[in-house]
Amino acid sequence: MRIGILGLGEGRSTMSAALKSEKLELKMVCDRNIELCKHRAEEFNFHSYTTNYDDLLNDAEIEIIAIYTPDHLHAEHVKQALLHGKHVVCTKPFIDDLSKAAELLELVEQSGKKVFVGQSSRFFEPMKKQRKDYEAGLIGDLITVEAYYHADHRWFLEKPWSLQQAFKWLYGGLSHPVDFIRWYLPDIEEVMGYGMLSSNGAKGGLKNPDTMHFIFKAKDGRIARVSGCYTGPVQPVTRDSEMSCILRGTEGCSQGDYMDLRYAITDNTGEERIITWEHKLKHYFRFEGKSHHAGEYQNYLEYFADSITEGYTAYPDIKEGIGTIALLQAMDRSLQSGKPVKVDDILTEFNLTVNELSA
Ligand SMILES: NC(=O)c1ccc[n+]([C@@H]2O[C@H](COP(=O)([O-])OP(=O)(O)OC[C@H]3O[C@@H](n4cnc5c(N)ncnc54)[C@H](O)[C@@H]3O)[C@@H](O)[C@H]2O)c1
Repeated sequence: MRIGILGLGEGRSTMSAALKSEKLELKMVCDRNIELCKHRAEEFNFHSYTTNYDDLLNDAEIEIIAIYTPDHLHAEHVKQALLHGKHVVCTKPFIDDLSKAAELLELVEQSGKKVFVGQSSRFFEPMKKQRKDYEAGLIGDLITVEAYYHADHRWFLEKPWSLQQAFKWLYGGLSHPVDFIRWYLPDIEEVMGYGMLSSNGAKGGLKNPDTMHFIFKAKDGRIARVSGCYTGPVQPVTRDSEMSCILRGTEGCSQGDYMDLRYAITDNTGEERIITWEHKLKHYFRFEGKSHHAGEYQNYLEYFADSITEGYTAYPDIKEGIGTIALLQAMDRSLQSGKPVKVDDILTEFNLTVNELSA
């Protein structure tokens, strides 16, 4: 599949993934910052770049557009790609409010094109293994899910868009653990939480909460929790992971530790195991330290490319992606009101129905 990439910050990982993959052909990349285009051209010895998104949209050979622009621009960039008959990969958070959700769903229907949400953390080794073991019944029936993403993202505040009113760590950060919650408990009915802007965040110029704790209730009565803190030091990584997902089941319990390529399970035989994937470090981390993780991007891009050629749906698709944004918006509302919020009320407000969003 021939692919074009929009946004070359995090899009750097996608460039690496596409250039390395035998299932994808990188056709052109785009960033409105010409210096960054030149820098990436040098870095990858790939010189087909443009500063104008229209050049990607109007290139008839490009079949997939992969979008890595700031969060608040995703909806418009996805819309343009669909209007130009392209399949779409959009990084997380898919969109940052639901005002364009119905329109995007309709465009997918009309165009017959696929939209895939680059919910990268699902495509890391520990989380893939956790899902596989869960589906194989190794922890029995799921009782509850706990997920968190805590990171010292003070460096992120150098990006001017992070200091705009529109930027919220609720969407930018918590979209990862909230996606884990919905992966295992898709039908969350209600959520409540508290959030605050830390003194570090306020000093750094952030406008919205950077420290948040939430609890969820699914329609079948099961509960879950999520937390995120983004503007201060984190616990030592030798002790704990920055991002983790814990599944507690009737017969076992498992934990996937994202960046640490580490997975632990007490399975239905009572056996305890810890698995790591040191031999895959080079696949996942291709640049300085662990700043980017191109391997998971390659995993999901190839899954999406196969879904097009083989005619299946790659998840999270647009419906699942919008379902997660609806939940994030309910969380946002709970922070503002200090009260529990029902996801259905948010969907109704934006003329969306649960049926429309089910697979
Ligand atoms: N694990 C993950 O999946 C992951 C990790 C980091 C970031 N992200 C997401 O990637 C997106 C980008 O984040 P980032 O850290 O790379 O930000 P960034 O600011 O470094 O990069 C965004 C780039 O988009 C370019 N851009 C903006 N508007 C444009 C336009 N109209 N046309 C062409 N180029 C345009 C900017 O010039 C900039 O280079 C965000 O949505 C973020 O949440 C995902």
